[in-house]
Amino acid sequence: MLKVVLATNNLHKIEEIKPLLSKIELLTLKEVGLDVDIPETAETFVQNALLKAKSIFNLCGIPCIADDSGLEITALNNRPGVHSAYYSGSRDNQKNIEKVLQEMQNETNRKARFKTVMVYYDENSFRYFEGITYGIITKEPIGEQGFGYDPIFIPDGYDKTYAQMTLDEKNKISHRGKAIKKLVEFFEQF
Ligand code: IMP
Repeated sequence: MLKVVLATNNLHKIEEIKPLLSKIELLTLKEVGLDVDIPETAETFVQNALLKAKSIFNLCGIPCIADDSGLEITALNNRPGVHSAYYSGSRDNQKNIEKVLQEMQNETNRKARFKTVMVYYDENSFRYFEGITYGIITKEPIGEQGFGYDPIFIPDGYDKTYAQMTLDEKNKISHRGKAIKKLVEFFEQF
C-alpha cells in the first residue's frame, strides 16, 4: 500500500481525511518523525500548498499531500484570501470576523467563495485538486459550530451559515469536502 504523509499538524484535518482514503496509508507528520511548521508565504493557495508538500517531501522522501484554504470576498478584491488565518494580524477568529464585517459594512455586494486546494507531490508528479463553495457574507455572526469564518458565510441555496450546520452537513457541501472528494477519486487509481 502506498504510504503518503499529510503535511499538517491539524488533528481535525487528519481525522477528517484519513477515513476517506482507503487506498493509501496516510501518515501524520508525527508518524514520520517531523515536528515542523512550514510558513505559508506564497500569494496563491496552490503555491502555498505546493510549498508545504515539497518541503515535507524533501525532508522525509515520502509522497505528500498538503492543503491551503481561505475565504475570497468579491467586494474586497478577493481578500482575505491566502491571508485568511491572520487577517486581523492574529489568528483570532473573532477579530478576523470583526475586520471583515467592518470592511463590508457599506457593501451591498455580499458575494464570496471559500476555496480549498489540495496538492499531491512525489518525485515524479504534482497534482492539485480544487474545491469551491459560493455564498454570501452575513451582516453579523450567526451560529456556534465550526471555526474561522463559518458564522458569517451562508452557502448559496441555504438559509443558514456554515456555523449553523453539523460537521456532516457542512462536509457534504464545503469547499474542503469537494477538494477531498477529488483527491479520493485520484487515489482510486492506486
Ligand atoms: P487552512 O489553510 O485550511 O488552515 O485555512 C486557512 C484559514 O482560512 C483558516 O484559519 C480560516 O480562517 C479560514 N478557513 C479555511 N477553511 C474554513 C472553513 O471551512 N470555515 C471557516 N474558515 C475557514
